[in-house]
Amino acid sequence: MSGVKELQTANWLDEGRIFAALEGCGGEDAGRVAEVLAKAAELKGLNGDDVAALMAVTSPALTERLFDAAKAVKDAIYGRRVVFFAPLYFSNLCHNECVYCAYRHSNRELKRRVLSQEEIAAETAALIDQGHKRLLLIGGEAASGKDFDYILESIATIYAVKRGNGEIRRLNVNIAPLAIPEFVALKASGIGTYQIFQETYHRETYKAVHPAGRKADFDWRVSAIDRAMEAGIDDVGIGPLLGLYDWRFETLALMQHIAHLESAFGVGCHTISVPRMEPAVGSEMASHPPHAVSDADFKKLVAILRLAVPYTGIILSTREGPEMRRAAFDLGVSQVSGGSRTNPGGYTESIHEDAAQFLLGDHRPLDEVIRDVAALGYTPSFCTACYRLGRTGADFMDLAKPGLIRTHCAPNALSTFLEYLIDYATPETVAAGEARIEAELADLEPQVRTIAERMMAKVRAGERDVFC
Ligand code: 5AD
Repeated sequence: MSGVKELQTANWLDEGRIFAALEGCGGEDAGRVAEVLAKAAELKGLNGDDVAALMAVTSPALTERLFDAAKAVKDAIYGRRVVFFAPLYFSNLCHNECVYCAYRHSNRELKRRVLSQEEIAAETAALIDQGHKRLLLIGGEAASGKDFDYILESIATIYAVKRGNGEIRRLNVNIAPLAIPEFVALKASGIGTYQIFQETYHRETYKAVHPAGRKADFDWRVSAIDRAMEAGIDDVGIGPLLGLYDWRFETLALMQHIAHLESAFGVGCHTISVPRMEPAVGSEMASHPPHAVSDADFKKLVAILRLAVPYTGIILSTREGPEMRRAAFDLGVSQVSGGSRTNPGGYTESIHEDAAQFLLGDHRPLDEVIRDVAALGYTPSFCTACYRLGRTGADFMDLAKPGLIRTHCAPNALSTFLEYLIDYATPETVAAGEARIEAELADLEPQVRTIAERMMAKVRAGERDVFC
């Protein structure tokens, strides 16, 4: 990185090239698709042109091959585990005017609220009591939704809450772009991933839907990840808000963003989120997204991302309903939220839709989601080992790339899942979970199985936070 100026602009984003790639790939080309799928099977990822070729797929036969390829890559790298987290909203005050968001400043229909440190501790306790170990701290952008010191204080508050066997072991944050010194302080506070969604990489659309507030500055937002990386935060998460502009444009722009991070910092993003626009109180656009992404295209998008960046986590939230969430595991999703609320105070009080950022597609309690996932043949994981062992950024990728992710992640998933079952689950979920553990153990290589069994024996004997 050669200077502060570059950390505030997106000179790597090339709209012309994106439009050319979208036009150039024309219609579906079976030969080219076969070539790209063969390349994807090598687990080394895809470039923008490859991705454009896959986005042109429309026929049912090739779509099925695309989905099968994504499933094979997902299985090869991640096995059967799915990591769980929940968002904790600290405030719904905001000085921005994002037209799709209920939090926008001029929205008179929203009941405003900023949590005190005591309330944040109470929300954390409620989430720990559900069984969560990873949270995402998130909220509106300042204008006395409190300042950066409040965020740092909140992080310390959350990590300090202990409840029986439980505590939060990894806190990710999704907050407004910071300057480098603030990112340095954020890293020092012990966060896991810094996450920020560009919403749209299409400048004209961005301008139209972010008419006021600090967020109106496209470049300040799109360069946030550069500043975070420069400050030493090497686990970063990005994503477009699907529905604002053509998803195919956003996907190619995302590829450019990742390529830029790889060339500037030697490592791309740790996670990609794929939020689809949902209804939000007081937002006309949220109920009628200008470029709504259909279920069929959404599935294609997830599968293509899985092939394009095989080692990057794909996050799906409770914006999606149970059915899409079930389908998404096979297509490549590796992390999900469960039991979520998007209104500040939502875990200790009831859901207040008139205080929520957007409305949820999945209202099921965590226990029910976990049971469902286990019955589907996936292993819920509450693992937080990597960042506590310093396996972040390029080190995480080195661990992931040779397939070691499986040998570490499978035992860690099993031990943290067992912790969940013993400490928090209902009897029906324990039954489904124990069956899932048996099935997973049967699939493991003998050496890995031995490690997992040893770790689980410790958990059954009462030890907690057992990881490798
Ligand atoms: N539906 C879905 N997601 C939304 N967000 C904001 N409004 C909505 C909505 N109506 C997303 C934005 C923001 C993230 C925290 O939530 O992408 O960055």
